[in-house]
Amino acid sequence: MPKISHLFFRAGILFLIVGIALGLIMSMSQVHDVVGAHAHINLLGWVTSAIFGGYYALNPAKAEGMLPRLHFWVYTIGVVIMSGALYLLLKGNAGMVPLVAGGSLLTAAGVLIGAWVIFMPATSLGGVRAQPAE
Ligand code: HEM
Repeated sequence: MPKISHLFFRAGILFLIVGIALGLIMSMSQVHDVVGAHAHINLLGWVTSAIFGGYYALNPAKAEGMLPRLHFWVYTIGVVIMSGALYLLLKGNAGMVPLVAGGSLLTAAGVLIGAWVIFMPATSLGGVRAQPAE
């Protein structure tokens, strides 16, 4: 599996652990105040990261070069900032709004880099096109 897939899966499983912890705390306390943070950590942090990791594992030629690494770091840092700030916002810290916005924009930028990787041919990203079987 390409290194970038490992990175996406490692980040994703850490998001899932945090997301599930928030879910358990909400369930046990019967206080569902941070449901927005819980849902975004699980869906953006775990599900989407795992899909990106799976994409690179299925298309190893696309995993080469700078762009996949930029994709991983911009996206993951964006989700960390956005979901952390969203959690604090939902806990009553109104000053978190700019950080939620900044993290959201970074996350969206990461998705656009991912779209670029998906649409571009592997050769223009620095990958090697697979040779046809003889
Ligand atoms: C042990 C694991 C989990 C627990 C204990 C848990 C618990 C909860 C709780 C208590 C709520 C609030 C429900 C409400 O206020 O209406 C919730 C909402 C939600 N959870 Fe989880 N959850 C878990 C895992 C997950 C996972 C893995 C995902 C996604 C991959 C997820 C996605 C969502 C979403 C999208 C909502 C919002 C639903 C809505 O607002 O209608 N949860 N969860």
